[in-house]
Amino acid sequence: MIQIVDKSFETFLSAEKIQEEIQLVANRINSDYAGKEVVFIAVLNGSFMFASDLFKRITLDCEISFVKVSSYKGSTASSGRVDELIGLNTNIEGKNVIILEDIVDTGITIDKIFTLLRAHQPTSVQIATLLYKPDAFKGKNAPHYVGFLIPNFFVVGFGLDYNERGRNLDAIYKLKGDVPTQNTMLNLVLFGPPGAGKGTQSERLIEKYGLVHLSTGDIFRYNIKNDTELGK
Ligand code: PRP
Repeated sequence: MIQIVDKSFETFLSAEKIQEEIQLVANRINSDYAGKEVVFIAVLNGSFMFASDLFKRITLDCEISFVKVSSYKGSTASSGRVDELIGLNTNIEGKNVIILEDIVDTGITIDKIFTLLRAHQPTSVQIATLLYKPDAFKGKNAPHYVGFLIPNFFVVGFGLDYNERGRNLDAIYKLKGDVPTQNTMLNLVLFGPPGAGKGTQSERLIEKYGLVHLSTGDIFRYNIKNDTELGK
């Protein structure tokens, strides 16, 4: 357990687990974009550690640029707040772009960046994020490459801050005692004939998402045996 300013945090994702997952994201990107040129656009501040560790593992012909989104009052009374992208120092017209985020939470930031980048006419835009909170997400552009799907916890470390502190930590910590407030049950159904590897995939899911239990057929066996609607 660690203390940051006035709050206690407990380990959530170890440094080793984070590095393993970044390697897997890098592998997917290297394979999906093989033979292509990619411009990575990292969103400051939080993404700097993820961007750095991912970028080292990219084997493609690539560039990186660091941006920030700022919102300012428009010049006329009717224009309201206007979003502006600061720091884009490379031409992305006709390029494949991958936005790098430490976390996609409500999705508001990524939606703004997506819209602002589209104006520069890139060939494609995808989002890679270390953490994604599907329960909090209300945006239009869901991330394509995700390190960890996480519940709606307040998290800190590996670039993420609490009152600007904790960004230097190499692991990710969650607020002590924080419990997810909604959608705590996720139903995943793996179909396949005997020997297809459902058990192996289940082990992988348990490990990757820290699941407590994953039934490998118990539910269906129960329903078949009891001749329920699902079991027919
Ligand atoms: C964090 C994070 C994302 C954004 C995600 O940035 O780095 O950019 O929040 O949240 P959203 O999906 O709800 O928009 P923050 O604004 O805290 O700034 P920071 O990166 O400087 O910490």
